Amino acid sequence: MASVPGSHRPLRKAVLPVAGFGTRVLPATKVIPKELLPVFDKPALQYVVDEAIAAGIEHIVFVTGRNKGAIEDYFDRAYELEVTLEAKKKETELNEVRSPIRAAGSMSFVRQQAALGLGHAVWCARDIVGDEPFAVMLPDMLMMAEPGCLKQMVDAYNRVGGNLIAVEPTGTPERYGVITPESRDGRLIKMKGMVEKPKREEAPSNLFISGRYILQPEIFALLESQGPGAGNEIQLTDSMARLMQSQTFHAYEYEGRTYDCGDKIGYLQAFAAYALAHDQYGEQAAETLRALLADKG
Ligand code: UTP
Repeated sequence: MASVPGSHRPLRKAVLPVAGFGTRVLPATKVIPKELLPVFDKPALQYVVDEAIAAGIEHIVFVTGRNKGAIEDYFDRAYELEVTLEAKKKETELNEVRSPIRAAGSMSFVRQQAALGLGHAVWCARDIVGDEPFAVMLPDMLMMAEPGCLKQMVDAYNRVGGNLIAVEPTGTPERYGVITPESRDGRLIKMKGMVEKPKREEAPSNLFISGRYILQPEIFALLESQGPGAGNEIQLTDSMARLMQSQTFHAYEYEGRTYDCGDKIGYLQAFAAYALAHDQYGEQAAETLRALLADKG
């Protein structure tokens, strides 16, 4: 299959869908957006925005919903707090409070009025993205990687163009969407297809789709006509499978590890992993965790 004409257009925009209910982590998410739950000392969302910026993304589109206003506030000025910190000469804290703020106009927020599924959420960003390639980053999937997962993907995208999906080996393919590979060149895998939550013995590979995508804008027309799929939701994977009939798709087995914060144990694991990896607090965190486990016997 030929590469898409113009498919090497640079990647400038990323869509971060944040309109879901986070039902697997209730009651914590009753009033706090799942994406703002702290993973050690930062909201989960901050890690993902940092990953986007490090990959050269210039504009971030958040697809938000009702009760998610705190996300917009997090990326805005907090005058009262800043003035108080300034008066108390708390420089470090002041820098931390200001660090999420990007240049005016480099973030957009669009509403998904009803959580109809990830595919529908991405479609809500169509006018802001326009006719150019874009990244989709699931903010409850944290990728611990150096360089960041999206940066690794951008480097691969600049070589092959088309559509690109980050994948990672898993021992439980039945829990995820996995890819059907056609051929492999190092970390880059030409894709034949993908399967949502296959039976373990029937899984076409152990490579699961881990939550970072680079997509061509033609996906939007397909999303527009996409009917509900698994879970009665409009699924991004269903439209990607249709786009695969006319455009190339590669999977990229990125170097790093994914932490899925979408359920309670995954969130615990991410919290502990990021605490252990923290420059300043890592050793103390390890001591604390060891002591806790020893107490438990
Ligand atoms: P998830 O399925 O992991 O999030 O979707 P969720 O729906 O919030 O979680 P549960 O299943 O109820 O526990 C992945 C990402 O896509 C967003 C979510 O906010 C999450 O960041 N999403 C999902 C939307 O923005 N809109 C949707 O309709 C569905």
